[in-house]
Parts: sequence; C-alpha cells; structure tokens
Amino acid sequence: MGTAQCRHHSRRGSCRRPGVTSAGSPGPDWAADAIDPQIPSPARIYDYFLGGFANFDIDRRIAARLSAILPDAARIARANRALLRRVVRHMLDAGIDQFLDLGSGIPAAGSVHEMAWAVNPLARVAYVDIDPVAVTMSRRQLGADPRATAVRGDLIEIDEILENAQIRGVLDFRRPIAALLIGVLHRVHDDVAAERLGARLYEVMAPGSRFAISQIGRADDGDRGERIQAVNRIVIGKADRLRSPAEIAALLSRFTLVPPGVARVSAWHAEPEQPAPAPPVLDGYVAVGLRE
Ligand SMILES: C[S@@+](CC[C@H](N)C(=O)[O-])C[C@H]1O[C@@H](n2cnc3c(N)ncnc32)[C@H](O)[C@@H]1O
Repeated sequence: MGTAQCRHHSRRGSCRRPGVTSAGSPGPDWAADAIDPQIPSPARIYDYFLGGFANFDIDRRIAARLSAILPDAARIARANRALLRRVVRHMLDAGIDQFLDLGSGIPAAGSVHEMAWAVNPLARVAYVDIDPVAVTMSRRQLGADPRATAVRGDLIEIDEILENAQIRGVLDFRRPIAALLIGVLHRVHDDVAAERLGARLYEVMAPGSRFAISQIGRADDGDRGERIQAVNRIVIGKADRLRSPAEIAALLSRFTLVPPGVARVSAWHAEPEQPAPAPPVLDGYVAVGLRE
C-alpha cells in the first residue's frame, strides 16, 4: 500500500493527514477504493508538484524521476496554474461568470471557483476530470454549494459532459460560458475527437462565450523534445500529442481568436513582475477563442 502525506502539514489547516496508511489499513478518504496506489496518476503527480497532499509514494517517486530529467518540472506546474489564474481573470474581465473546466485537476493551489468567487460571488463553476481523486477533492472543497459541481468524465466524450444533469444544473448554456482546457489537450491523441470537442462547444455555447486552450507545444529543438517525451513515457506510458501554434489555432477555427492569438504560456497576459521570471524550459502555448 502506498502512503499519502501532506508535505506542508503545518501550513494546511484542512489537512487531516489522511495518508499514513499501512498494509491492510484503509486508504485516505480522498482515494476511492478502486484506486491502485501502485499506479501513478498524472493528476496526483501534478498535485505533488503544486505542493498538494493528494498523492501516493508512487506519484512522488515518479515526480523525482521527472525532476531528474526535467529539473524545471515543478516550475512548469506552477507556471501552468499561474496561467489558469490569468485565464480565469481574463474571462471575468470579459464579463463571463460561468466556467466549464475540462481536465480541472486536483484543487491544490488555487482553483477556478476560489478565483472566480473572489471577484464575483455569483459565478458558477462545473469541473470535469477523468481522475477520481481530482473529482473527490473538488467535491470536498465545494461541499453542497449550489454554485458549483464536480463530475467525473472524459473530455473526449463531450456530448455526455454537455448533457450531464449536474453540469446543466449549474451552468446556463443560454448565457456566455468560459470553457477551459488548460494543460490537458496534449493528452488527447485523437485529433478528430479534439476537433469535435471544439465544434460541439461552439454549437452549444451562447454568443460571447470563450474557449481557452493551453497545452505543451511542439518542441522547438530536438533535445528538449526528447526530454519531454521521455518524461511522458514515464508518467503515462506514451508520448504526448504535442501541437504547433497552427494546430492549436485550427482547433479554434470556428471561434474568433482573441489577441494576442496563440502565444507562449509565459507571455500570455503576463502580469508585470519585477524582475520578470525566465520562462520555464517547457513553455506551452495558449489561445482563447471568442464565440461570436
Ligand atoms: C496538468 S493537469 C491540469 C489541471 C488544471 N487544468 C490546471 O491547469 O491546473 C491535467 C488534468 O487533466 C486531466 N485529464 C487528462 N485527460 C483527461 C480526459 N481525457 N478527460 C478529462 N480529464 C483529463 C488529468 O486527470 C489532470 O487532472
């Protein structure tokens, strides 16, 4: 049995130190019985890099191997979460108060509902993730709040997601919605399904809606590309589907690209900082499309 522990126990009042399991003892209450703690999960590894506690020994061992290959790994995870924050802010600034977060992850270091409610307490949020721990942890944070829900689902099955009663109970598709696909599309190898995802969102979303995509980009140089894919083979057993800026723009072809178009994650609506941090070695692409 793997163990789970809070790396920042003293800083997290909500951490009930669920891990500290031993053979034969029940697992932490955020881990469904069906989870095999010997099988790593990309969502839990990402949680670990963000300083969360919803991860097992196996996730932390893989994280260590990742860091050996890509020393910037934790920084890349943080840069991705920082992008998520900027995207949410962008949507709120555009007057959007509903969020459909696809591949939402474990809510370790700031989540969409917290950021949205800090600005607009009436905002509505629907989370979708394929990972059971991500869904459990989101539900735990949300409680019975009627403004938000968390659903387990595969974003490729977009029709199921769009018909889901919980999601329909939270989001009003007659009004603008922000669809977020942040840091996940590189896991989708099926280009036809990815294209269909954008097409279906375009069909169901009201004018004024926006669709944000970020993902790991096609590598700029061979060495970096090889390192990235070596990491992927460790985490998910296969290489990622890296996409070029043109491929990402094509997924938003029905939408109107919002300036600056497809941009590097580190540069997109970068917040003024002194001094500006150097972009991580693995700097993905991001773009937002407007549904006119
Ligand atoms: C790197 S995390 C990104 C989390 C969050 N969007 C963020 O930017 O911080 C990727 C998440 O996508 C989820 N994911 C991967 N493939 C998915 C799929 N086909 N459907 C739904 N979620 C998926 C993973 O479980 C993981 O939680």
